Amino acid sequence: MKKSSRSLLQKLHKQHSAIQPSPPEAPGEDAGPEVAFDFRTLPAYREIKIVRSTGQTLGIDSPFFRRVDEVRGTKVKIEGSWKTNFASYDYLGLNQSSAVADAAALGAREWGVSSTASRVVGGHRRYHAELENRIADFLGVEECITMVSGYGTNLAGLRTLVTKGDLVLVDALAHNSIYEGVRASGADHFAFPHNDYNWVDDKLASVRGDYENVLVVIEGLYSMDGDIPDLPKFIETKNRHGSWLMIDEAHSLGVLGMTGRGLCEEYGIDAEHIEIIMGTLSKALCSCGGFIGGSSGLIDLLRFKAPGFVYSVGLSAPNAYAANEALKMLARDTGPVDRLRELSKYFRAKAGHYNLDCEMGGEFPIIPVMTWDSLAAIWVSNKLFENGFNVLPIIAPAVPNKSARLRFFLTANHKTN
Ligand SMILES: Cc1ncc(COP(=O)(O)O)c(C=O)c1O
Repeated sequence: MKKSSRSLLQKLHKQHSAIQPSPPEAPGEDAGPEVAFDFRTLPAYREIKIVRSTGQTLGIDSPFFRRVDEVRGTKVKIEGSWKTNFASYDYLGLNQSSAVADAAALGAREWGVSSTASRVVGGHRRYHAELENRIADFLGVEECITMVSGYGTNLAGLRTLVTKGDLVLVDALAHNSIYEGVRASGADHFAFPHNDYNWVDDKLASVRGDYENVLVVIEGLYSMDGDIPDLPKFIETKNRHGSWLMIDEAHSLGVLGMTGRGLCEEYGIDAEHIEIIMGTLSKALCSCGGFIGGSSGLIDLLRFKAPGFVYSVGLSAPNAYAANEALKMLARDTGPVDRLRELSKYFRAKAGHYNLDCEMGGEFPIIPVMTWDSLAAIWVSNKLFENGFNVLPIIAPAVPNKSARLRFFLTANHKTN
C-alpha cells in the first residue's frame, strides 16, 4: 500500500507539473465587460489542487477544515458526530467556564463588543491597563503591551525592534509569525538547528562584530516537537555575545512552571534576564490577542512605533475581560497546571505501553506521535476520527519531509478513562 501510494503520488505530481497556467486572452475588439480575475490560476493554488486530487485519488478524506457544529469541553461535534478533542489549545480547560463567559459578557455590556479605534486616538482604556498590569505582574516584568492577535504581535514587534544592520537568529522550529516579522524587519536572519545553543554560540563568535544589535528568538514550548529549550544555556550564550533574547510563550504560558508562568518559572529564572517575552491570549488564556512584556523602555517604544499597535484597533473589552478572568482563576487555583502535567505523563506512559512512537518532546501537553510518512499520518488520523477522536496529522511543509506525525494536545479537562 505504501509503495503504490508513493508511485501514485509521483504520477500525480508529474501530471500537475505539466499543467501550465493558460496565458490571459488578448481582449478582442468586441470584448465584453472584463470578468474578475480567477485566483485559482495562480501558481500558489497548484499545491492545493495537488493535495486535493491526491486525496481524492487515494480515497482519503481531508482532515482539515472540517465543519464543527458544537463544542462542549473536551468533546467536539464535527459533521454531526461527537468526538473527543485533541486539537485544542485550551490547555487549562477554562474556555467554557462560566466565569470566563460571564466576564466576556460583562466586558461587552460595559464597553461594547469592539474598542472601535486604535488606542492612539481611542485612548488607553481602563480594561487595557488592568490586563496589561496583570500580565506584567504574572510574568515578573516591568510592563506589558497587548495587541489584537498573537500573530500580529510577533509581526509588529519584531519589525519594530530589529532592522537592517541587525541580526536575528531564530530556532528552526519557531512559528511562522516570528519568521514573517523578521523578514519584514529587513534584518539579516538565520534559522539555527532546533534548540542548538552551541550553533548560536559559534555563529555569534564569528559574526557578532558585523552587526549593531543581535536578537536570538526561541519558544517556551515548541508546538511541533512538544519540547522546551535549555533556557540557562541560551541566556549564557546571548549574554556572552551582548545580544538580546526573545521567548515566544504562546504554548508555555499557563503550562510551564509550578504556577503556569512559563519557561522562566520552569527553570526558576527571573524574567528580568530576558529582554522580550511574547505570548498570546488565545491559548491557555482562552481569549484572542497577543502581548509583549519587558522593560518599560521596550514597551514605550512599541506603544509609539509598532505598526500593528499604532495602526490597529485596541483589544476589545470581551477579549480583555476574558483573558483577565482566566489569569485571575489561574492565580487562585493552579490545580489545572498540575493536572495537565500529570495527564501528559499519563498519556506518554500509556502511548509507550502500546509501542507508539512518542519519544519526542517532554512531559508536556503537546505530544507528537510519529508516523514519519505523511499518508500514514492522514490515514491514522482519519481512522481515529471514525473511532471518535479528533487528532490532526502534521505533514510537510509544516514539518520536514518524512517527519509526519499525529499531534495530541491535552487539556486539564481530559480524563484518564
Ligand atoms: C508559537 C506561536 N506564536 C504565535 C502564534 C500566534 O498566536 P495567535 O494564534 O494567538 O494569533 C502561535 C499560534 O499558534 C504560535 O504557536
